[in-house]
Amino acid sequence: MQTKELRILVAEYESVEELPEADRELVLAAREAAQKAYAPYSKFLVGAALRLENGVVFRGNNQENASFTTGLCAERVTLFYANAAYPEVPVKTLAITAENSQGLIANPVKPCGSCRQAMVETESRFRQPMRIILDGKSKVQVFEGVDNLLPFAFKPDSLD
Ligand code: THU
Repeated sequence: MQTKELRILVAEYESVEELPEADRELVLAAREAAQKAYAPYSKFLVGAALRLENGVVFRGNNQENASFTTGLCAERVTLFYANAAYPEVPVKTLAITAENSQGLIANPVKPCGSCRQAMVETESRFRQPMRIILDGKSKVQVFEGVDNLLPFAFKPDSLD
């Protein structure tokens, strides 16, 4: 028997102002996108913005439904939107934010498990890591690759 220890890396910034300019712009785009969320049931407004390798930015937000399970998270709306429009262009960075009734959430937003799995697929299809920025009032976290958010993930080679 062997016990292994995994290293998870996360860079933490005190606020969005501390981020490098391109990342800051993406977080601000995600915050704008959150304002357009369709979340009449949870009232939890999630926004996402991603930048492709060619510089194009896509924005998305959560889309809820009276039949709750039909709705979709902001991250997947945004990833699928971009992947549908540019199926050959890698996603370099994905920024995510969320607002509750008090405004921007205190702690960095936590992508759900299904969204993390969709992020894994994005990295797999483009064969490169994707940066993920999680926005929050108390701090902003930057992950260099989805392995840091979803270790031991089910990947295409898990089907072998
Ligand atoms: N939501 C997201 O959009 N992204 C996440 O990662 C977590 C949750 C949405 C789904 C639902 O519309 C609302 O937030 C409350 O769960």
